[in-house]
Amino acid sequence: MPRKTGAFFLPATYLYFCIMSEDLQIIQGNKTEQYESLLPQVLGLLEGETDLIANMANVAGALKEQFNWLWVGFYIVKEEELVLGPFQGPVACTRIRKGKGVCGTCWSQASTLIVPDVAKFPGHIACNSLSKSEIVLPMIRQDKVVAVLDVDSTELAQFDETDQYYLEKILDLIRF
Ligand code: SME
Repeated sequence: MPRKTGAFFLPATYLYFCIMSEDLQIIQGNKTEQYESLLPQVLGLLEGETDLIANMANVAGALKEQFNWLWVGFYIVKEEELVLGPFQGPVACTRIRKGKGVCGTCWSQASTLIVPDVAKFPGHIACNSLSKSEIVLPMIRQDKVVAVLDVDSTELAQFDETDQYYLEKILDLIRF
């Protein structure tokens, strides 16, 4: 059934290909190979789009699709709290105070935290009991943390400096 858009009718097949052009190419391989494949695709997804929420949503979606981690998403600094932003995964805590949990500590320290075993991180906020390890990176604009990217895994010690290197590169691509 053709759909009406303005004065024109577009056939369903045309609309189908518009949507499919946003498909990611998901690859097998080691961590570096996966990030190297994903990075230019993320660049393509963000190109020409200035809306923060749209871009955060696509970054979370792309990372979840490639790596299938338990949870990947953003907390945005709003009125002296971190507030849940676009994410992929199970439902999560909506607000985190500065200095609390891994996310709030990342915010107060303005530096990336790699937590190999969340059970050993004092004050870790367990939004999901399946989470075993975590990486949280600050998004810094004009010397201020404006948001954090949080990634959780069901595996212990999932994240390392390779993740930090590439996730920081991806965060740099997001306009704020
Ligand atoms: N574990 C985080 C809370 C956010 S959820 O993992 C999505 C923390 O300790 O800050």
